[in-house]
Amino acid sequence: MRARVGIISGSGAYDLGADVIEEMELRTPYGHPSSKVQLVDIGGNPAAFIRRHGPEHTIPPHMIDHRANIYALHSLGVEALISIGSVGSLKEEIKPPAVVIPDDYISPFRVDTFFDTEVSHITPSMSEVIRKGLKESAERLGIPVHYGGTYVQTLGPRLETKAEIRMLSQFADIVGMTVGSEATLAKEMEMEFAAICSVDNYAHGIGGEVPDFQQILSNARKNQERTKAIVRDFVERF
Ligand code: HPA
Repeated sequence: MRARVGIISGSGAYDLGADVIEEMELRTPYGHPSSKVQLVDIGGNPAAFIRRHGPEHTIPPHMIDHRANIYALHSLGVEALISIGSVGSLKEEIKPPAVVIPDDYISPFRVDTFFDTEVSHITPSMSEVIRKGLKESAERLGIPVHYGGTYVQTLGPRLETKAEIRMLSQFADIVGMTVGSEATLAKEMEMEFAAICSVDNYAHGIGGEVPDFQQILSNARKNQERTKAIVRDFVERF
């Protein structure tokens, strides 16, 4: 079976709160995706869903095979990819818990590509159509979102030092470990891409905070009902 929409979710979201129609064990030229691909039914529309960190949350960010994940979704006919993930806030005014739909990203530390044997240079960007659709869904549900902002991807698995966050906060608004990789590969596969980010902590040193990963995970579990609700509404209307 095929799906036009793909969803990759991260820390905290192991299901989408939607009916699972089928679970597929897929193999790609890059290996297996992080999890079986679930075909879910969202208000009559099928979507293909991958859990980025694996079914038991055992794959750390720097070990995720983003190529296998994106390739698997592409092979199912996915044209629009939504990435759900946990981030830290780089700005005091983006106060956790919050939801951000970023409009750009920085990822100088890790650049994934499908183009190892041909010369091709995509120009990265996020999809205005999907971003706008996600914002409309948030409005329909009465969930406030920060619309716009720059995501910076760090490598992980460790969190950032205070000095790193001081530097990154000059150029970006939220920090996470995955969106840059997924956005780049999706664009290489000519998919529309947008991210919806659950702000689960202040990044190291912002507002004097010292983040702790267990705390971030626990906040991510609490907060992601809102991001998932927005995505479900979007897919229903897509
Ligand atoms: N840094 C990097 N990634 C994250 C953070 C953070 O503070 N919070 C959630 N994901």
